[in-house]
Amino acid sequence: MKPKFLLGFIVVILSIAYISSLSSCDYNPHRQGEWLYSQHCQSCHMADGKGLGELIPTLNESPWLTTANIHSVACLIRFGIKKPDPFDSTVLTYPMPPLYDLSETEITNILNYIGNHFGNSAGYINPVKLNETLSNCPNEEERKW
Ligand code: HEC
Repeated sequence: MKPKFLLGFIVVILSIAYISSLSSCDYNPHRQGEWLYSQHCQSCHMADGKGLGELIPTLNESPWLTTANIHSVACLIRFGIKKPDPFDSTVLTYPMPPLYDLSETEITNILNYIGNHFGNSAGYINPVKLNETLSNCPNEEERKW
């Protein structure tokens, strides 16, 4: 093989290897949200989001996780929820504890993850709307919904 031809051959092989490594890349736009969910939510709502029967509600196809309602879930994550749930006042008696330490960005990433998984299609969180919602969360009395 002539050296020029050999060089061309090597360049072609390397290009093919590079292009195939790109297409095998594991694309996951919700990596931080998924990780935060596993750290802060999964112990109750479970890895598949299905909850625990009458104790913990399912997040699958949830009326909370729709385009219209998802921003209000930010208040629920930061300040907890006591009961009754506005969408179902009969089933649950156990409160969800507040998670004061999560930042706005972390809450956004969690919501983008759960709002687009578990059969939900809420679309993406608007950070301005999220901050407005968080600064107008119901007070503790009102949070008993
Ligand atoms: C200690 C257990 C626990 C943890 C941790 C927890 N939750 Fe909950 N969650 C609950 C319970 C219990 C309710 C129902 C409360 C009620 O209605 O009184 C609830 C309700 C909800 C709801 C409303 C759903 C419905 O149908 O009522 C959403 C959405 C939700 N949680 C999301 C989250 C997210 C996101 C996280 C993590 C950031 C999280 N939860 C962490 C226990 C938990």
